Amino acid sequence: MRRTLIAGNWKMNGSLSSIEELISGIKDGLAEVTNADMAVCPPAIYISKVNDLIGDSGIGLGSQNICDQESGAFTGELAPSMLKEFNCSYAIIGHSERRSLYGESDELVAKRFAMAVQSGVIPLFCIGETLEERESGIMEDVVSRQIDAVIDTQGIDAIGKCVIAYEPVWAIGTGVTASPEQAQAVHAFIRSKLAALSEDVAAKVQILYGGSMNAGNAKELLSQPDIDGGLIGGAALKPADFLAIGKSA
Ligand code: 13P
Repeated sequence: MRRTLIAGNWKMNGSLSSIEELISGIKDGLAEVTNADMAVCPPAIYISKVNDLIGDSGIGLGSQNICDQESGAFTGELAPSMLKEFNCSYAIIGHSERRSLYGESDELVAKRFAMAVQSGVIPLFCIGETLEERESGIMEDVVSRQIDAVIDTQGIDAIGKCVIAYEPVWAIGTGVTASPEQAQAVHAFIRSKLAALSEDVAAKVQILYGGSMNAGNAKELLSQPDIDGGLIGGAALKPADFLAIGKSA
């Protein structure tokens, strides 16, 4: 049985005071979230502070990226060992904003993925198609290509060490959510693609949905058989909404 994971991607939001309020609000309601693990991915500069604020509450911690190298002359990047020093269990990799705004290729995303796995950090591996790609009927090709970049370089077993986040680009930050049926169809496609290589990996890998998931639509999305949680943007910035998503699991 796959456990549900609700992870908040704070993106480039927050301040020293707002993150204190946010973590304290989440901690206050955490006991009511019984069927999901909860995690937060703050901006890098706040990881240390959030690690302190989380304490032993059980809230998981992740970064929003991870370098494909161990250390050295890589200005602006975050080494896996640094993330581990601050208890980051997860690293978001291949988010569509990194791919589209900062030019991260499938190849680079796969290299970051490899370094995360090698370092014991779980990739929150983001994939998803644009509206144009969906409308031109190449959605499955795009998602396959993104996954194959990892499988071709690291093998199917590497996928068993990550959490996949299917985030249709057209649903991110737009208020337009994929319908439960649309999301389930892609999640089932991903799982069947993996099953062709390894039934075991396909059965165990968590596949989260991301894209305008909120307190109102989470229950229906999370009740789909192949949706194992959510990667939440905007709604993760308000404790009540983030907790409500966790409680609807
Ligand atoms: P929103 O929930 O704001 O649409 O963002 C989703 C996302 O990009 C999470 O990584």
